[in-house]
This record gives sequence, structure tokens and C-alpha cells, in this order.
Amino acid sequence: MAGERPAQAVILAGGQGTRLRPLTLARAKPVVPLLNRPFLAFQLALLREHGVTDVILACSYRVDDVRAALGDASQLGVRLRYVVEKEPLGTGGGVRNAADLVAGTVFVFNGDVLTDVDLSAMQRFHAERGSRATIFLTRVTDPRQYGLVELDADSRLARFREKPAATETITTDTVNAGVYLLDAALIRRIPGDRPVSIEREFFPALIADRVPSYGWCAPAYWRDIGSPAAYREAQMDLLEGRARMLLSPAGAWDGGSWRAAGGSVASDARVVPPAVLGARVTLHPRCQVGPAAVIGDGSTIGPDARVEGAVLWERVEVGAGAVLRECVIGADVKIGTHARVGPGIVLESGAVIPERATLAR
Ligand code: GTP
Repeated sequence: MAGERPAQAVILAGGQGTRLRPLTLARAKPVVPLLNRPFLAFQLALLREHGVTDVILACSYRVDDVRAALGDASQLGVRLRYVVEKEPLGTGGGVRNAADLVAGTVFVFNGDVLTDVDLSAMQRFHAERGSRATIFLTRVTDPRQYGLVELDADSRLARFREKPAATETITTDTVNAGVYLLDAALIRRIPGDRPVSIEREFFPALIADRVPSYGWCAPAYWRDIGSPAAYREAQMDLLEGRARMLLSPAGAWDGGSWRAAGGSVASDARVVPPAVLGARVTLHPRCQVGPAAVIGDGSTIGPDARVEGAVLWERVEVGAGAVLRECVIGADVKIGTHARVGPGIVLESGAVIPERATLAR
């Protein structure tokens, strides 16, 4: 099986996304908008680029959101099927729940990582080593908040340490990137009747049983979008060219900005690239959008308002003279006239900010 080119993937999309609250109170993490497209569309684009077009989504929480945003994903050139857990089964149990639909060698993705990693190179490594389970490892500056993976001199998996305490010695800066290549037969080892963690239970058991399992380090863009700050920064990375645009924003490209159909832009409104304007966006006179702004469908930016380094979901109303910087604004939020919303602020969908209020951290 090891030499077979994978055509299938399982994406774990059933977590509650607690770190991304309050945004995930309104929408499941796998489909929060990234440059106005559902997040998983970027993973599907990467998989398709590497010939993987049969994808199973392992869901449990807010599955209706996920279906509404992605459907069968045929418009993205892949076939998407859903398996839904009655009770959350954890990262291992979620993969186990998809076992009947997969065969051969299968990619498994955490549904919250943005990466342009070369999946074909990962497959070659997997085949050359005769690996049955390969983990993509990425280097990060502060590994403590991630799952650390130690390898032996041959790149075989040696030890896992989830989020080590501050007092523990850190022996590696390579962390589990949440992208795996697995022999599907191994997936059936996972118990199907209780929650199982792929990181804490499945991989350590493979090491203990001496199943050929490897870590593969590769330079690639990688970011876990699971916190509000990382979610915003991932979009800044895409806009500012630090991450490869696997999928273009909807609409026409115009001098570094994208503008979808409908809406209206006053002749003296300024759009400073890079920026993404969704469908039916209205920009009133003298407002400035960008640099690095994402404006959701149906949003309105009032006269003289400024939006910079910020991500706005759908139907946000920004009052006259308001200033929004480096923040994330949920859907249907109303920002009063001359209000100021500063760096690091995240507003829950439906929030109403009074005129002249200042929100800062
Ligand atoms: P936090 O609550 O913020 O930690 O987020 P999370 O619930 O998404 O958990 P975590 O980031 O550890 O999950 C990693 C990936 O596994 C995400 O893509 C989750 O959607 C997914 N996941 C987590 N738990 C489950 C589960 O019980 N079932 C399924 N199918 N997927 C899960």
C-alpha cells in the first residue's frame, strides 16, 4: 500500500473551537470565512492540487453550518462526503468514524490548519521509507502551545509530548502540524465506541507497537487558525503574500484588491491594497478601506470611516467616522458613528457598539 498515490482524505471538522470564541458561537470553525470563503475551501484546494478529490469530513458540532457552506464541494472540484458522530469522538474517533469510506493510503487533516505544504513530496517520503503513518512536522518559534514530536536519527517517531509545561525541558522545535498520511488499515485499530485522541493515544500506540511511523519536516507555510489572533493573521499573511493564495477571493482583481459583484463605491472612497471587498459592499464617501482589510458580503462602510488590518464578516455596518484597526468583527455587527475598535478586539456576531465608544485592549 505504501507506494500507492493517495486519492482520499479525511478532514477532522468536529471540534467546538473554544479558543476561537466568540466567533465559533455563530459559525463552526471549519467554515469561518477566510478572505470571504469558508476556511476548508483552502484545504480542499490544496488537496485537489495534489490529486486528492475524494474527501470525507468527520463532523459532530454544528454540522449544518458546514453543509450550508460547503455542500458537496463540487464547485471546488472535489467530492465531499460527511460522516457525523452522535457524540464527539475526539480526533482519533473522528477518523475512525470514516474508516468504512477509505482504503489504501489516506491523508488526514486537522480542519484548522492553513498550509501550502507539498503533499506529493510527503507521499514520496512515505513511500520511500515504507512508512505506514507519517506526520508532517513544522518548526515553530514557541513549541510549548503545540504537540511536540521527537524523532530518532532515522526520522522514525520516538515520542509525543502534548503542550509541555513551562518547567519541562524542550528538546525539539518540531511540532505536529495536524497533517498525516495513514495506511487506512491502521485506522481500524482505533476503538469506535469511545472518544480517542489521535495525538495522545493512536500515535503513541503505533510507536509502542513498532509500526513503521515517521515524521517528515518540510519548509512550508503553516498556521493553526484556531485562535482569533491567528485567524486574523492568516488572512493578513494571504493578503500580504506571506502565504500562497491557494484559492483567489471571489470577484475581479483590480490593482491588488478584489471586488465581488454588486454594491457601490463612492468616487472619493479609497481602497488601499491589499483588500478584499465581498459582494454588495457599499463604501460611502471619503472612507478608507485597507491596507489589509477584508469586508464581508453586504457590509457598509460609512462616510469618513477607516478600516485597516481588519476582518469584517457579512452585513457589518460601520458608522460614519468610525475607525477599525487590526480587529475581527462578526456578522451583522453595528459599529456606531465615530467609534474606535482597536487591535486584538474580536466582536461577536450581532454586537452593537454605541457611537463614540472606544474598544481597546
Ligand atoms: P479548541 O476547542 O479551540 O481547542 O478547538 P477544537 O475543538 O477544534 O479542538 P482542536 O483544535 O484540538 O482540534 C483539532 C481538529 O480536530 C479540529 O479540526 C477539530 O475540528 C477536530 N476535532 C476536535 N475534536 C473532534 C471530535 O470530537 N470529532 C471530530 N470529528 N473532530 C474533532
